[in-house]
Amino acid sequence: MPNTLLMGAQWGDEGKGKIVDYLSRDADVVVRYQGGSNAGHTIEIGAERYVLHLVPSGILYPGKTCVIGNGLVVDPTALVKEIKDLIARDIAPAGRLHVSDRAQVVLPYHKALDAAREKRSAAGAKIGTTQRGIGPAYADKASRLGLRMGDLLDPGVADVLRTRTTEKNRLLADMGTDPVDADAVIREMREAAAYLCPYVTDTVPLLNAAWRQGRTILFEGAQGTMLDIDFGTYPFVTSSNPTSGGACVGTGLPPQAVQRVLGVVKAYTTRVGEGPFPTELNDPTGEHLRQRGREFGATTGRPRRCGWFDAVVARYSAMVNGIDRWAVTKLDVLDDFETIRVCVAYEADGRRFETVPASSAVLQRCKPVYRDFPGWKATTSGFTRLEDLPANARAYVKALCDLTGVPLGVLSVGPQRASTFVVDL
Ligand code: IMP
Repeated sequence: MPNTLLMGAQWGDEGKGKIVDYLSRDADVVVRYQGGSNAGHTIEIGAERYVLHLVPSGILYPGKTCVIGNGLVVDPTALVKEIKDLIARDIAPAGRLHVSDRAQVVLPYHKALDAAREKRSAAGAKIGTTQRGIGPAYADKASRLGLRMGDLLDPGVADVLRTRTTEKNRLLADMGTDPVDADAVIREMREAAAYLCPYVTDTVPLLNAAWRQGRTILFEGAQGTMLDIDFGTYPFVTSSNPTSGGACVGTGLPPQAVQRVLGVVKAYTTRVGEGPFPTELNDPTGEHLRQRGREFGATTGRPRRCGWFDAVVARYSAMVNGIDRWAVTKLDVLDDFETIRVCVAYEADGRRFETVPASSAVLQRCKPVYRDFPGWKATTSGFTRLEDLPANARAYVKALCDLTGVPLGVLSVGPQRASTFVVDL
């Protein structure tokens, strides 16, 4: 397998965990490059269901090296819990999970600030964040006020944590929120650092050595293109770059190390949190997609907003990320529809849009232009070859590819490992 970058091409929750898990068999190293525990990658293996937030999904395969890259913001306590949960289920991360010493630390005051800002924001200005402290942690990184995982092992860290907590408590007081206890922060970080010490290392030479030795690397994206801080529906976005461009800055591997970009799209669209979503269905059809697709957030349990496939978004994603192949997931969720709609363009302000406008206010006004496709009214789950699918299901998938100019690489028709199959990779 060539070194593959896998990223979400919609608003996250495309089913990346499952595709990463599938590709992990052929990878030697799996590396996450951005985000934090706002992500929730769900993988089902037999009767077992795993939800990973920070640890790359490759950990579920014995012997794979897994790296939490420098581009992430890491909540140390959440990471300790995730590692302990894996160990309790007989998955041993020791010696093969590596956490970049350059990754930023999410501190308790980041989570408090995230929650306080969301609470105080007026309706319409709320982002609907996962409240995992992601935005404030990335803001501190950019303001050069962040702590990095390597710093947690430094003897002087307690003083820095005390100063920072005092500063943040002033902000929290201004927002009418309870302060964070500096002693508790120091204690929590000390305990987490002691536990994580064997995992924290300089992952930049480690990854580059793996690449030079010809080991196969899988870059595991989190969230999705439309949540990208530069290319997404700003300001209703996350605070990192889930797009393929984020992979180099988030790992320390150069662009030449990425040999193929695989974009993951659901056969329809979902979004969690606030912000424009042109094909959203606030009706029984949307509810049907939510129930059949089990569209509830893996991290927060929130119901996801559901709608038809948006080919404008997918085309834009293909352009921004340089997507070579699609991995189309959850086709089976559409099994019992009479008619399936696909948005091929938008209309707003007397104009037709073939690509996603920069302004969220404009996108909010955009009305989808739909093309209708006949449903197949038959089960697709259980199939493992494209040729065996009902003709209308094949025609629908082909239309998604034709409308976006990207060929199909992988198709998934159910939550199990066995229901993901390669068409052309
Ligand atoms: P944050 O990343 O917690 O700051 O949240 C910012 C926006 O990104 C919100 O709309 C979240 O719902 C969304 N978001 C963050 N992580 C995910 C994810 O893994 N899947 C889907 N949406 C996400």
